Amino acid sequence: MDYRIIETAELTGDDDPRRWIHEASNHLWHDEIVAVHGNDDLTRPLDAELRLSVANPERRLVVWAALPTGADDGADNVVGIGRLVLPLLDNTHYCEARVVVRPDARGQGIGSALAETILNRARAEGRRVLVTSTGSVPAVATSDADAVEVGEQLGFIDGTHPAARFLLGRGFRPEQLELHSVLDLPVDSEGVARLHDEAIAYADDYDLISFEGTCPDEHIDGFADLAVAMSTDMPHAEIDVEAQAWDAARIRHQERRQMAAGIRALTVVAQHLPSGRLVGYTTLLHDAAHPAAANQGDTLVLHEHRGHRLGMLLKVLNLRRAQQVWPSVERIHTWNARENDPMLAINFALGFRVVGTEAAWQRRLDG
Ligand SMILES: CC(C)(COP(=O)(O)OP(=O)(O)OC[C@H]1O[C@@H](n2cnc3c(N)ncnc32)[C@H](O)[C@@H]1OP(=O)(O)O)[C@@H](O)C(=O)NCCC(=O)NCCS
Repeated sequence: MDYRIIETAELTGDDDPRRWIHEASNHLWHDEIVAVHGNDDLTRPLDAELRLSVANPERRLVVWAALPTGADDGADNVVGIGRLVLPLLDNTHYCEARVVVRPDARGQGIGSALAETILNRARAEGRRVLVTSTGSVPAVATSDADAVEVGEQLGFIDGTHPAARFLLGRGFRPEQLELHSVLDLPVDSEGVARLHDEAIAYADDYDLISFEGTCPDEHIDGFADLAVAMSTDMPHAEIDVEAQAWDAARIRHQERRQMAAGIRALTVVAQHLPSGRLVGYTTLLHDAAHPAAANQGDTLVLHEHRGHRLGMLLKVLNLRRAQQVWPSVERIHTWNARENDPMLAINFALGFRVVGTEAAWQRRLDG
């Protein structure tokens, strides 16, 4: 198939002449997510996608659409989408991309052309690393002849899967594996009460504070400090990322963006009573468009406060609160680096079960 590629940037409003490219991006990803997961829990409603695709001081967005030559502009005619996100406030050496080709148009070079376009732009922007992820490439046993090793001894994935072949052929390496797990609600309240009672005995010096949506003013600076720590303390394997620059204004901006996209957040923070310092937090996110599903956001306990079972306490409290304020939620999704044993141990104790793996792939652009 002959095709042409059209570029657009952030959405400028409802009358943006290239709004259809953002719509096509949403449609193609929706269908890909449903094909991989068998349900639409992880899809984003079009409205929310469009609201999140406007200009944002945190990042620049470039989107490309591939259309058969001769086909009119319009979302229904798009056969492939490439999307590049360029952080602006930190990590300016880094960028993230994804490519999706409509199933009936695969194997004809469209994905390669979009990948080439993205790589050229990322280089032109002076970025040194390009990162993408796949939720479709299965983890496999070591003995498999077609297995590709992830990072340094982090596991193996199926190197024959089309998405793996596509990325390997374009110079990407799988650097990290994340386990995707699900917890069915309601949880066994006696089991959770037991976990809570065991943990609370270790946490005399701490107070736990819940909030919905916006962080209380008196905690906003401490909360921003935790967001910075989260960006460095979570395991990144060999993915080349730097600390993120969070402050109160950026937290407020993120809260407004989430609300505008119909996403509600429930957070619990841990405060160390002797010092008054915030030392840990966990967040759950709920999109009104998916009443039955919620997603786990960040969870962090600062290094010097680990060992007090705060991770378990934070999660138990937020889980109980989620069951009260979001009674329609039937399951919670979470993603954890496979090497993140402490977080996985907490999640498995709570009843999360692994449903899949996600691989993070990195392509260096400076070598
Ligand atoms: C991965 C994807 C983008 C490839 O798009 P495409 O248009 O089919 O890609 P191309 O036709 O340019 O083929 C590129 C490579 O993909 C691999 N590939 C394509 N079709 C394949 C198939 N049916 N089976 C196995 N590998 C296949 C081949 O390695 C091919 O390279 P080669 O021709 O040098 O052997 C497409 O399969 C897709 O949209 N998948 C779902 C989204 C995704 O996983 N994206 C990747 C992460 S961002």
